[in-house]
Amino acid sequence: MSETTKPSWLVDEPFVDTDLGVLRSGKEAQIDLIERTGGGELGRSCLLVRKWYLPRSVTRKGQLEALGMQKASAFRHDVQYREGRQFRKSRDRRAVEQMTTHGKRLLQDRWTSHEHDVMAKLWRAGVTVPYPVSFDDDRFLLEYVGHREVAAPQLARARLHGRDLAAAADQLIDGLRAITAAGWAHGDLSAYNLLWWEDRLWFIDFPQAVDLAANPRGLDFLHRDVTNVCRWFDRRGLDLDPEALFAELLAVISW
Ligand SMILES: Nc1ncnc2c1ncn2[C@@H]1O[C@H](COP(=O)(O)OP(=O)(O)O)[C@@H](O)[C@H]1O
Ligand SMILES: [Mg+2]
Repeated sequence: MSETTKPSWLVDEPFVDTDLGVLRSGKEAQIDLIERTGGGELGRSCLLVRKWYLPRSVTRKGQLEALGMQKASAFRHDVQYREGRQFRKSRDRRAVEQMTTHGKRLLQDRWTSHEHDVMAKLWRAGVTVPYPVSFDDDRFLLEYVGHREVAAPQLARARLHGRDLAAAADQLIDGLRAITAAGWAHGDLSAYNLLWWEDRLWFIDFPQAVDLAANPRGLDFLHRDVTNVCRWFDRRGLDLDPEALFAELLAVISW
């Protein structure tokens, strides 16, 4: 999406969205490909992705499938992510700690809008993330990375070598620096949550992103992210020192 097409015509009605089918059925979300046509007389169109989160409070596989999810998945309830997210009412806090239905619903609300909010901040900070178009009712619309015929591959599947691999590592470090400077840790960074498209590395999948200032374990998540991706590059013969990179990132945090 070029600078001039963002974001006015994308969100200014009238526009028409056409469903082009399921792109991926992931861990917690189904990803659909959408074509949005609008822009009044200009008649522009572009491809978007609709990330459709696991329906709230629905936990049985059959129920999920009945709601149209292609692949049911377990609700993520990693206790570590819940620390530092402040639920002001003690009733809500208890519900979250005990993972009651109400607690799951509260968490789901947090995660889903959280992903949009974090990506909007990162996009404004200049990080290469898909442009987050809108968030509504568990459906997150964002810029699609790829061609109509083929989606951008995950870094893990992009089969990069030589100069491309080195370029991806450089962009990873630049991206991490910008994300950290903006005050966030991705929280689930791996070669599966990075896309490679036309020589650019894209960061995706931020529902669990951690606010470094608010979360007492924020630096642990950052360290784990850095270790994960450095190990991936290391296995491909590119020597990245995770501790040196972590130290460099610590230096860009403004507390
Ligand atoms: N904006 C996008 N453009 C192209 N492909 C995408 C986009 N967002 C997600 N995908 C594809 O869908 C997969 C799952 O999306 P992701 O946001 O990682 O959700 P999750 O892993 O939680 O299911 C990604 O690995 C990628 O292959
Ligand atoms: Mg993912």
